[in-house]
Amino acid sequence: MNSPETSVLIRKQIVIRNYLCSTGHEEVSEIIAGLSAQQKYLPSKFFYDANGSKLFEEITHLPEYYPTRTEIALLKENAPQISKSLKNIDIVELGSGDCSKISILLDAIPFENMATVRYIPVDVSRAAISKSAGILVERFPEITVHGMLADFLKHLSIIPKETKRLFCFFGSTLGNLTRNQSIQFLMDLKAVMNPGDQLLIGLDMVKDIQVLEDAYNDNQGVTAIFNKNILSSVNQYVKTSFSPDWFEHAAFYNQSKDRIEMHLRALKDIEISCMYLQDNIRIKKGETIHTENSRKYTRRHIVDFAWITGLKINAVYTDIKQWFSLVHLIT
Ligand code: AVJ
Repeated sequence: MNSPETSVLIRKQIVIRNYLCSTGHEEVSEIIAGLSAQQKYLPSKFFYDANGSKLFEEITHLPEYYPTRTEIALLKENAPQISKSLKNIDIVELGSGDCSKISILLDAIPFENMATVRYIPVDVSRAAISKSAGILVERFPEITVHGMLADFLKHLSIIPKETKRLFCFFGSTLGNLTRNQSIQFLMDLKAVMNPGDQLLIGLDMVKDIQVLEDAYNDNQGVTAIFNKNILSSVNQYVKTSFSPDWFEHAAFYNQSKDRIEMHLRALKDIEISCMYLQDNIRIKKGETIHTENSRKYTRRHIVDFAWITGLKINAVYTDIKQWFSLVHLIT
């Protein structure tokens, strides 16, 4: 009964499970809370609808946007060291996006260990997970993919734990969280880690302000389109009719908080209704919706993270300009 085709199919194993609340209730209340706050804000995860994920991928190729390129170079350089002992392990990637980064680690795993490795991408974008899972099993037929459509801030405890794990948290996504949120998140992550588990985290470092600001104000305006796209994503969830044309993109470095802030600044007075709110949403000309923080780190922060979580720093890989760091933490 086993034709060659079916055995190939059996080996190409992909499972994708959805843990997001299908009614979207939680998403609605998160958005409403943000739009009702004194300083209006929107959680950054709402950037990543299908269009937003595509736009972000475009950003990663922009000349001004150095983080992805730098992190990929670091991964390539150090993958042999990181991957040589990956065996009987679940590789859990938090905020996996496309699969370009994990492929570098998988490429460096000794062939005889490949079949003992399972890849668990965790992301809020179904498009990103199914696309990357497809590409990965094509490239690495030995490996199993267990995708989780989930918000890693909320769903850490449902990540499989029967095998030892390498948690990967690339792209300086930690930087989207406020200081307190990131500390809470790292402590939560530590709490679900078992002895033998490891964490590999990519952090964008503090550097020349012009370099930082240019990375979020690219010449082609792709970041501006990405920023405004959060409105279409939000419109879907809370049935509003925000138009991107009512806002301008604003991104700047907030030195006292070590972070790039992205905002949408209203070009006129805005008043729109929302079925989930009694009162209309009012935004004054010049007022902003804060859409993203992107924290930048120093060596000191890395040491602090290790101290706070009680994890040990096994290695800090960095580039010659020290623009980006890959931190390998062990239990
Ligand atoms: C993927 C969240 C790390 O903060 O640099 C890129 C997203 N925002 N350009 C970042 C982003 C604007 C990116 N992260």
